[in-house]
Amino acid sequence: MIGNEKIVFSGVQPSGNLTIGNYLGAIRNFTGFAEEGYKTFYCVVDLHAITVRQVPADLRRRTYETLALYLACGLDEKKNTLFVQSQVPAHAELGWILDCYTMFGELSRMTQFKDKSAKHAENINAGLFTYPSLMAADILLYQTDVVPVGVDQKQHLELARDIANRFNQVYSDTFTVPEPYIPKTTMKIMSLADPAAKMSKSDENQNAVVYILDSKDDVIRKFRRAVTDSGSEVRASEDKPGVTNLISIYRAFTGKTVEEVEREFAGKGYGEFKTAVGEACADGLAPVREEFARLIADKAHLEEIMKAGAETASYYARKTMSKVRRKIGFVG
Ligand code: TYM
Repeated sequence: MIGNEKIVFSGVQPSGNLTIGNYLGAIRNFTGFAEEGYKTFYCVVDLHAITVRQVPADLRRRTYETLALYLACGLDEKKNTLFVQSQVPAHAELGWILDCYTMFGELSRMTQFKDKSAKHAENINAGLFTYPSLMAADILLYQTDVVPVGVDQKQHLELARDIANRFNQVYSDTFTVPEPYIPKTTMKIMSLADPAAKMSKSDENQNAVVYILDSKDDVIRKFRRAVTDSGSEVRASEDKPGVTNLISIYRAFTGKTVEEVEREFAGKGYGEFKTAVGEACADGLAPVREEFARLIADKAHLEEIMKAGAETASYYARKTMSKVRRKIGFVG
């Protein structure tokens, strides 16, 4: 909360090509808040991305691309503050401070840390470990009330709340304690090759992942190859994780209920259903793809947006930082 304005903050890492998991689970849900009267901050979190080794030219290109995708997905830079994390140094500053109020044991329990350290055994760096306290800094810096994310970030959000409460208890009220916003249908879009695994931008199997910028043909081809379950009935249930995932994706693009989808495909096979999901997804993404192509061609414009966003974000970040510095006992 700033004054009587409610605040929304969220971020996406420029660490790979963005997927329909990122789109449906997060970015698409960012768009309604400004219209509803919230003050919104959407960040490209490049500091987080370097917890895994990045090729510098790729990181730079993806930072522009992620910003262009925010815009292409319908975030108007005049109504939302869109910015790049490393251009607002207060994130790193508060990140360090919050490291000192985050326990080793808490960070050791984070499932993302455990997964990523298993995957990058050669590079289990300190940043990977303290990733969640930097994420808490992102959120707490803006006195955030609501954080729209996919369910994989829920544990990090809970830790951010614990850190905020701990700091507030030691120093009196300093940070707003944030709430996650996790819409159920799209909270976890699963891999098309393995319905037990989350769809992830770092998956090496290209057929498991649908990217926001995939061509219509690729989208349809990937859905046609999607792993389904035994039987032939299009029905959402626990014993049909593949079909259930496809139903969620179809619902997200068509706005239909589970019952409507089941009725629509009653008596029809998986083949027809998968083609329909592919078409709905490709059609839903087409306007995003077109807008993206237009926006990415104008780097100077993207740089102007980044610059203005960083200035606005810095203004609010400074307010929180001066409060934090004073309470801790830093001089000046
Ligand atoms: P990242 O870049 O991995 O993912 C960005 C957003 O997409 C969501 N998401 C998904 N949702 C549903 N199904 C999926 N398969 C799927 N894959 C990804 C993520 O939950 C996320 O909301 N730590 C964050 C970035 C971050 C952040 C923050 C987020 C840094 N600071 C502060 C919120 C607030 C992350 O790794 O996102």
